[in-house]
Amino acid sequence: MKIQRICILGGSGFVGTQLVSQLAARGLQVRVLSRRRETAKELILLPTVEVIEADVHDQQALIQHFRGMDAVINLVGILHEDKVGRVDLPSARRGDFQKVHVELPRKVLHACGETGVRRLLHMSALGANPNSRSAYQRSKGIGEALVREAGRRHREDENWYLNGPKFIHGYGLYVTIFRPSVIFGRGDSFLSMFARLLKAFPVLPLAAANSRFAPVYVEDVARAFADSLDNTDTYGQTYELCGPRTYSLGELVAYVGEVIGKKRSIIPLGEWMSYFQAWALEFKPGKKLMTRDNFYAMSTDNVCQGGWPSEFDFAPASLEAIAPEYLRADTPRARYEDYRESAHR
Ligand SMILES: NC(=O)c1ccc[n+]([C@@H]2O[C@H](COP(=O)([O-])OP(=O)(O)OC[C@H]3O[C@@H](n4cnc5c(N)ncnc54)[C@H](OP(=O)(O)O)[C@@H]3O)[C@@H](O)[C@H]2O)c1
Repeated sequence: MKIQRICILGGSGFVGTQLVSQLAARGLQVRVLSRRRETAKELILLPTVEVIEADVHDQQALIQHFRGMDAVINLVGILHEDKVGRVDLPSARRGDFQKVHVELPRKVLHACGETGVRRLLHMSALGANPNSRSAYQRSKGIGEALVREAGRRHREDENWYLNGPKFIHGYGLYVTIFRPSVIFGRGDSFLSMFARLLKAFPVLPLAAANSRFAPVYVEDVARAFADSLDNTDTYGQTYELCGPRTYSLGELVAYVGEVIGKKRSIIPLGEWMSYFQAWALEFKPGKKLMTRDNFYAMSTDNVCQGGWPSEFDFAPASLEAIAPEYLRADTPRARYEDYRESAHR
C-alpha cells in the first residue's frame, strides 16, 4: 500500500510537530486537524502541510476530513482532566480521559471505515492498561484495545470486505500501535518542568522518586511512526518505545539539575507523602504539575519489556546526547515558559 496522503490528529503537539515535519521532509501530503489553527502555526509554513481547524470529536467532521486520505495517525492525548470522571461509569459521568482516549479512537475507527482509509497509526503509552489504578492509563488501555481489536479482525479475515458489507467500524484496517515511555526533546513537558522547578526552589521534595523511566527521544518516536507507515511488517503490531537507559525519577531530576547548573537537595517522599503532595498539587492554579492520578500511574515502572524494535532500522538516541543542548538553552521561548510558570499560567 503506497501511502501519500496522511491525516493527523494531535499534529500540533510536541510529538506531532516533529512527526509532521519529518513526513513533510519525505514529500508526503499531510493534513493536520487542530481545534485551533493558531496552535499549529509553525506547521502552516511547511509546503506539503495543510492545517484545518476542526472539532475532532465531531464524527461527521472526521469523516469529511479523512476522505481521500491513505492513512490516519491519532496522537491526541491528555495527561490531566479538566472534567474529571470515571471511565467505568455511565457516559454522563465520564470525564475527559474517556472522551479523548476512548471515544475519540472509536470515532476515528468509524471514520476510517466510512471513508475507506486502510492504514491507522495509534499513539498509546507505556503502562496503558484497562485494569490500571490510574484513570489515564485505564482510558489509554481501553482505547488501545479498541484499536487493536479492529486490526485483529482484519488479520483474521483479510478478504472480509469482499464478502461482507463495506468497511464497518475498523474492519479492513492495518493498524500499528505505539507505547512510548516518557518522551524528551526540545519543548517536552517532563524534563523541562523539572528544570523550571529546580531553578525556582532550593530544595525539591520529590514524589515517586524511585519510579523508573526509559526516556525516548521525540525525533526517534516520530521516525518510528514515519518509518512504519509503508512497512507491512509493522501491520497489526504494538511497539514499546524506550530510550537506551533506565533511570529512577530521582536520578533524572538530579541529572537535570546537574545539566542546568542547579544542584539541589532532592528529598524523596515516601508513599503517603507522595500521595499528599500529588493531592495538594491538584489545587495549584494554572498548569497542573501533578495529580493523584499521575501518582497512581507512576507506581508502575515506565520501562519496556524488550529492546528497541528491530523493524526500525536505527538506534534510539541517549538522553545525555540530546538533553543538555535544549535544557541549558536560554532562549526567549525558555524564558517565556519560566515567566508563565511563575505567574501560574
Ligand atoms: N509526551 C510524552 O512524554 C508522552 C509519553 C507517552 C505517550 N504520549 C502520548 O503521545 C501523544 C502526543 O503527546 P504530546 O506530548 O505530543 O502531547 P501534546 O503536546 O499535549 O499534544 C497533544 C495534541 O492533542 C490535541 N489535544 C489535546 N487535548 C485535546 C482534546 N481535549 N481534544 C482534542 N484534541 C486534543 C492537541 O491538538 P490541538 O490543540 O491542535 O487540537 C495537541 O496538539 C499523546 O497521546 C500522549 O498520551 C506522550
